[in-house]
Amino acid sequence: MTQDILYHRPALAERLSKLIMQVTVGSAASSGVFLAAPRRTGKSTFAREDLRPALEAAGAIVLYADLWKDLTKDPGEVIVEAIQEAVRRSEGFISRLAKASGMDKVNVGGLSFNLDKIGLGKGIDLTQALVALSDESKQMIVLIVDEAQHAITTDQGVAALFALKAARDELNSSKHHGLRIVCTGSNRDKLAMLRNSKDQAFFGASMVQFPTLDEDFIEWFCANLDLQHPLDPSQVFPLFQESGYRPELLGAAADAIRFDFALPDKDIPVRFAALVRAQADELNGNLKKVLHSLTPIQSAVIRVMSAKGEDYAPFEAATLALYGKAMEQAGLDVGELTVEVPGVQQALIALQEKKLVWKASRGIYAVDEQVIVELLRADGMLEGLG
Ligand SMILES: Nc1ncnc2c1ncn2[C@@H]1O[C@H](COP(=O)(O)OP(=O)(O)O)[C@@H](O)[C@H]1O
Ligand SMILES: [Mg+2]
Repeated sequence: MTQDILYHRPALAERLSKLIMQVTVGSAASSGVFLAAPRRTGKSTFAREDLRPALEAAGAIVLYADLWKDLTKDPGEVIVEAIQEAVRRSEGFISRLAKASGMDKVNVGGLSFNLDKIGLGKGIDLTQALVALSDESKQMIVLIVDEAQHAITTDQGVAALFALKAARDELNSSKHHGLRIVCTGSNRDKLAMLRNSKDQAFFGASMVQFPTLDEDFIEWFCANLDLQHPLDPSQVFPLFQESGYRPELLGAAADAIRFDFALPDKDIPVRFAALVRAQADELNGNLKKVLHSLTPIQSAVIRVMSAKGEDYAPFEAATLALYGKAMEQAGLDVGELTVEVPGVQQALIALQEKKLVWKASRGIYAVDEQVIVELLRADGMLEGLG
């Protein structure tokens, strides 16, 4: 007997699927829908297990590109592969013709191509491939790009986004059956970079705060745990909140209890709470250690970046002055010494290597995770730097 070890959210999936597929007056859904929520809170699981089936049930062809699955691959290539794969899978004329010809070369309307030629700057572009898929299937196509912010870290990724924009504009014209692009991401600020400025591919797309797993999930979790002593959902939910809504922390604590044969049954709930808290503290503790081991200039740069958020401009005179202020606050006598651009550049590189800072291909920086900003703020390290 296999038990379903996932908690499903069909109502949410259906609501989102409507939002994505149906264009109503004033809706920006055809420009794209962005879903943001912190890491490890269940975005990919939901996209694959709930949203995808809901979109398919509503009549769409769904393509899924996970830009984090294989970090050695260029994000642009991952997007192209998802499209190649869909074309290859389609029962339609493209693969029929390919099989009939005994080669992967296909001739359509005077256009000769093979499947490997689908790509950026290759024989056949993404628009042509998606148009063929759309016309053949007469279905709407939904492309889910998971951890989409990763695309703007490489030139090929940026090119893929612009190719998708062109394809979207063509397929959403009345001649075809529509293309919707759904982007998920762990960081709202980074995702926002894909749509905030007019030269970005998804200008105007809707940003949706993706709901975290809720009390119903905790009910389900407690009901299915099968420990020697039941857990009370009303006590577990606050623990879940404390651990940043990450199901894995609860799962790991439950596992530790299952293997602790010396633990009296009645002590299970208290022990569970202690284990979850210890893990959450450990995660933050490691991050704090990294933050406390920064050089003065590195620390100044990440603090100013955290305080400034979207307005952060690393090399402006006013920002350089703020770095100086941050170093003085840390007890350093900067005196007449000014912070200079090369020093800041080096600090930014070091911070990227420590995975505290993230850089988009066009030289825009963001703090890697919101939790870093929160830790610094809680320690009073951002005061006077905004
Ligand atoms: N609906 C769910 N039911 C049970 N466990 C879940 C569910 N969603 C996520 N998880 C657990 O949380 C972990 C992180 O989920 P994931 O979807 O990878 O998060 P994200 O994509 O937001 O980083 C998964 O490995 C899984 O164990
Ligand atoms: Mg994910």
